[in-house]
Amino acid sequence: MNNRILNCLGGKKYRGIPVWFMRQAGRYLPEFRKIRKENPNFIKLCLNENLSTKISLQPLKRFDLDAAIVFSDILMIPYGLGQKVSFKKNFGPQLKELSLEKIITANKEDFINQLRPVYKTIYNIRKKLNNNKSLIGFVGAPWTLLVYMLNKKSPKNNFNFKKIIKDELLAKIILNKLEEMICLHIDHQISAGANVIQIFDSWAGLLPNNKLPYFCYETTARIVNHVKEKKIPVICFPKGISKNYADFCSVVNPDCLSIDYKKNPKSIRKELKNIPIQGGLDPKILLMDNKKIKKNVKNYLDIFKDHPYIFNLGHGVLPKTKPEKIEYLINIIREKE
Ligand code: CP3
Repeated sequence: MNNRILNCLGGKKYRGIPVWFMRQAGRYLPEFRKIRKENPNFIKLCLNENLSTKISLQPLKRFDLDAAIVFSDILMIPYGLGQKVSFKKNFGPQLKELSLEKIITANKEDFINQLRPVYKTIYNIRKKLNNNKSLIGFVGAPWTLLVYMLNKKSPKNNFNFKKIIKDELLAKIILNKLEEMICLHIDHQISAGANVIQIFDSWAGLLPNNKLPYFCYETTARIVNHVKEKKIPVICFPKGISKNYADFCSVVNPDCLSIDYKKNPKSIRKELKNIPIQGGLDPKILLMDNKKIKKNVKNYLDIFKDHPYIFNLGHGVLPKTKPEKIEYLINIIREKE
């Protein structure tokens, strides 16, 4: 098989390092900004299967990437559960009041019907994608979705667990429902053609250490087991818990751990002997000159040269990034620079 990502995750010997980018379809690309300008409603854009297919494939038209990721958002799950979501310029996501009753009584069929365009998009992308490329489906982890649903906007870093989770029992009820719907959303993405799943826990770093097992590890572990039963590899990105990555992996046992830019790559290489690693490079490096980019990329390549490694960043591509820098980085990986 000449699919670099699947070979890497399957622990097989393979030629060449796989590479893709979180937020590879997005605002740093002028062709995305053009479509976005004409489509002010972001959720509607995610639910427009023709445009979403086009946007997902935009970065693959420009660059020699190993994967497409479906153009969608982690907040499509709260949306599917009946909580209104919108995106304000220079502010980010805004969620409306959460109705516990709506969430508890949400039925699977309505949920799937609302999100069906996402699955159609995946189906369309798969048809247009060469077999040597992976198609990544994704979800937000229960904890990160809970944070958005209760906080109703992106949390600040001075976020206080007790302030948001006033009623822990209530939070646990929502979390259980989220876990169920996340598995359902994954199942439909896989049936539509996704052959890798990534779980984004962007706000894992906000959890106090004693809450990590319940709110992050255990619920994620059940989702990971669910995906593994389908023989589809699953990548976890529990952002911001770098000291606890080894603990996370011992409970969750993902097929691959995506590390953030704060984690020292040398130390994770020592801590994790048997789990493939993805990412790490600080997205801000791509705002620097080529010499600095090369030095930093080579550093990651060198540290992971004897370990299954997928090249990616330690978070999403920043909107200020010049597309040429992505191309330059890929040329380094492909040994053309
Ligand atoms: O290319 C890809 O990676 C696929 C598409 C994708 C988007 N969001 C599109 C998007 C993916 C994988 C996501 C995941 C996502 N969404 C996460 C997890 C990753 C992370 O960044 O930690 C989170 C936390 C969200 C929630 C979200 N969606 C936020 C906080 C924002 C606003 C942030 C900002 O940059 O303004 C979004 C909007 C969003 N999702 C955009 C895109 C391309 C920008 C929308 C725009 O054009 O205004």
